Amino acid sequence: MADKGGFPHFMIKEIFEQPEGLRKTIAPRVSLEDGVVRLDTVHISAEELRALRRINIVASGTSRHAGMAGQYMIQELVNLPVDVDYASEFEYRNPLIGPGEITIVITQSGETADTTAAQREAKAKGSRTIAISNVVDSTIAREADGVLYTHAGPEISIASTKAFTAQMAVLFLFALYLGQVRGKLGKEQRKQYIRELLDLPGKVETILQSAADCEQMAAKFYKNDDFLYMGRAAHYPIAMDGALKLKETSYIHAEGYPTGESKHGPIAMIDENLPVVIIATCDRNDPGSVLRYEKNISNIRGFKQQGARVIAIGTAGDEQLRGLADHTIFVPEAPELLLPILEIVPLQLFAYYVAVRRGLDVDRPRNLVKSVTLE
Ligand code: AGP
Repeated sequence: MADKGGFPHFMIKEIFEQPEGLRKTIAPRVSLEDGVVRLDTVHISAEELRALRRINIVASGTSRHAGMAGQYMIQELVNLPVDVDYASEFEYRNPLIGPGEITIVITQSGETADTTAAQREAKAKGSRTIAISNVVDSTIAREADGVLYTHAGPEISIASTKAFTAQMAVLFLFALYLGQVRGKLGKEQRKQYIRELLDLPGKVETILQSAADCEQMAAKFYKNDDFLYMGRAAHYPIAMDGALKLKETSYIHAEGYPTGESKHGPIAMIDENLPVVIIATCDRNDPGSVLRYEKNISNIRGFKQQGARVIAIGTAGDEQLRGLADHTIFVPEAPELLLPILEIVPLQLFAYYVAVRRGLDVDRPRNLVKSVTLE
């Protein structure tokens, strides 16, 4: 019943709907004036949240990548340990979880069988559960203690795009909320982050204006059969998701790897036949981010020496990066922990245009379904 609104595929329509999805997910839950985040549907008392010992995040596929970015957000802003698991692996490691913990289950559809099973196991062990879902009243949302909906709108394309950016926004909101309840984040700090959150939709709009650059890049690379995607810290899950988008839509072998791990094996493969996509953004106000950036720059030099063609995702105005990489797509400046929400957008566009060039069924890749309801 859904229509493509003038776009050739749902995937590209949904990529372009991200500013709206972010606006609807963020704006009603924050007040810039008084620096307050309101999450009325968490349904876990402030007292319990203050006594929390640990957070577990369980999800599958792209939703797990959002969880990996969320791990950095929560640990950094709230100073609580966070574990992230594949839902499909959860039961096999007999997770040592229990009361005093929250298990966040992230799922676009709210019906993924592996994630439902993991949620039931977490509950059985005494953990509270919070669902992050894009579908109101889905099974996982119904079974959770609390629910935080993403308001990305229905996602039809099998490759998840707008749900992903909304999931990361919700995780950031939850981190801010926990910081507020636990007294870890002062009003001024919260105001600053809220302002940055509210600026995200406009920044995504700016990135979408560079869609033609991503299309040109796709025209140059669509015949390649292997890609290596790399990122450090909260940007590693973005490398993972960029690679997953390419695999799903184009059937191209792409691996997401932590940049620093490349010297422990993958650089053996790097030559002119293996393009490297590297996330090399930088938040100049954050010393950790600057360090990450400098290490990435030195990695890029090494990859170039080995003959690789390098596609870099950088921060607007970075002439050093432009001079070094073969192709650079820029995203606007943002705080380190919010950059992932911007970085994925050009990678989604790249995967989309490569699939189109290859003449594939972009919205319905072979062997995949939108919601994996069987374990
Ligand atoms: C994303 O592009 C994939 N189609 C897939 O990895 C998906 O994210 C995964 O199956 C989880 O789905 P869910 O979010 O509906 O639980």
